[in-house]
Amino acid sequence: MNVVVLTGAGISAESGVPTFRDSDGLWEGHDVMEVASPEGFRHNPSLVQRFYDLRRAHLAKVRPNAAHQALARLERSLGDDLLVITQNVDDLHERAGSRNVLHMHGELRSALCLACGERFPWERDLAHAPPCPGCTSASLRPDVVWFGEMPYRMDEALYALQQADLFVAVGTSAQVQPAAAFVHWAAEQGARTMEINLASTLSSDDFDESRQGPAGELVPRWVDELLRSR
Ligand code: APR
Ligand code: ZN
Repeated sequence: MNVVVLTGAGISAESGVPTFRDSDGLWEGHDVMEVASPEGFRHNPSLVQRFYDLRRAHLAKVRPNAAHQALARLERSLGDDLLVITQNVDDLHERAGSRNVLHMHGELRSALCLACGERFPWERDLAHAPPCPGCTSASLRPDVVWFGEMPYRMDEALYALQQADLFVAVGTSAQVQPAAAFVHWAAEQGARTMEINLASTLSSDDFDESRQGPAGELVPRWVDELLRSR
């Protein structure tokens, strides 16, 4: 059975990583376009670098929760038949033990060189614009997808959705494309679809099943059910 799970900020909420849209959320008073767009970066690179440096530093203070751990457990049973596509830029899936993770919005733990396009594993601050280890031009930026930029590895995501028997969306408000369309791409080719979210979303009616409650409770329960049914 091929399973694709799409995760959003809601799966990391119980770990203490702020979501985007629930309250004032992640942007901490910054206008989104100021800190998450190429224009914002051009206008004030050090503000943007510092914004992501703070988020990267925050990662050291948070831990994967039961939902991340349940998906890692599911991967131990399903192997390559499970793909987690995440909109999150944190590393909580990996720290819970998941290996098949597609970061369609990039990762805080990676830096991208604007000059040569090389990517580098990155744990430190970018605020002092360290020289690119590849081409030495000091133009590294956070390797995250900003508004107006193309998400990463969409061909792989689309292929997985076309093969999926089951598509589950966890903790996403389904307000950002193309992730919000995944349920349609999966359903079109016959996959069963389920949403796990604290509340109903704009897309809840598009799913075969919609379960409301905290991911930390509902994801482990769903994984247990799925493993029992195999
Ligand atoms: N358990 C389950 N769902 C939760 C929980 C929880 N404990 N807490 C919050 N949620 C749900 C909210 O109800 C909401 O639907 O998680 C969702 C979070 O929505 P957003 O904050 O919009 O996050 P997300 O959907 O991941 O945003 C997608 O938009 O801002 C861009 O690039 C950014 O990746 C992000 C993308
Ligand atoms: Zn370079």
